[in-house]
Amino acid sequence: MSRIAYVNGRYLLRAEASVNIEDRGYQLSDGVYEVCEVRAGKFVDEGGHLARLDFSLNELKIRNPMSRQALGIVLRETVRRNRVCDGFVYLQVTRGVARRDHAFPAKPVAPGVTVTARSVDPAANEKVAADGIAVATMPDERWARVDIKSISLLANVLGKQAARDRGAREAWFVDEKGFVTEGASSNAWIVSREGKLVTRPLGHDILRGITRTTLMKLIAAQGLQVEERAFTAEEACGAREAFVTSATQAVMPVVRIDGRPIGNGAPGLVASGLRRDYYQYAELT
Ligand code: PDD
Repeated sequence: MSRIAYVNGRYLLRAEASVNIEDRGYQLSDGVYEVCEVRAGKFVDEGGHLARLDFSLNELKIRNPMSRQALGIVLRETVRRNRVCDGFVYLQVTRGVARRDHAFPAKPVAPGVTVTARSVDPAANEKVAADGIAVATMPDERWARVDIKSISLLANVLGKQAARDRGAREAWFVDEKGFVTEGASSNAWIVSREGKLVTRPLGHDILRGITRTTLMKLIAAQGLQVEERAFTAEEACGAREAFVTSATQAVMPVVRIDGRPIGNGAPGLVASGLRRDYYQYAELT
């Protein structure tokens, strides 16, 4: 149970925590966020998440609310007050409170900062990974700068729900040329027929996943071959394996795409091995 939230300098009971109705995050989705895993009391790749937060803030010209060190303290304190040992910490920074107007406030306002943390049951996650997940493909209808981790997630919300309605756990977005961009809340990967790990190259059309970056280190260390190139949903359906990566799922095997089984329909050896070894290459602090 999450009980305490950090809201603009104060730790409040979650039930009593609220933000101003004129917060631009609420009014205009004018903000950014990060989700960092907490595992056995340690933060997973905090440095990467906070570096990407800086990038997102910079791209949107939102003032950095505090130093990285101060933010680290707030994140830890929120985790501690919620007694999270295994779970996630969620951080959101908005442009702040101002009378509603699309353009930035003429007089700069203080950014809004909120942090929450919640526990998850690691055994439940392992069970999902042991079975693997289904994904459903659909057109990518998001804006053109999804490399910015913006809280504006309407297309992701609709995509995820459409996937759920089709009996899948994740949506895979497909661009107008038929290539998979990424998941609604994860990066997309396949193991090609030649045994290479294939994932879309970085650009404005996917998020630079922190899990993706860490996995690249593990792949290199294991001497596996990686190909950063786009792949179609059709290629994915005929691939040896498929999987997704994210802070909330680490490496998660995909066993069905649009109802079609991948490989023999069970989690593949490569994805399962990468999942097992993942944390050896992550930064745990
Ligand atoms: N989502 N792509 C999208 C669209 C995402 O939303 C995410 C993460 C990722 C993977 O990024 P990372 O490995 O840094 O978590 C890729 C988070 C977990 C979320 O929205 O809850």
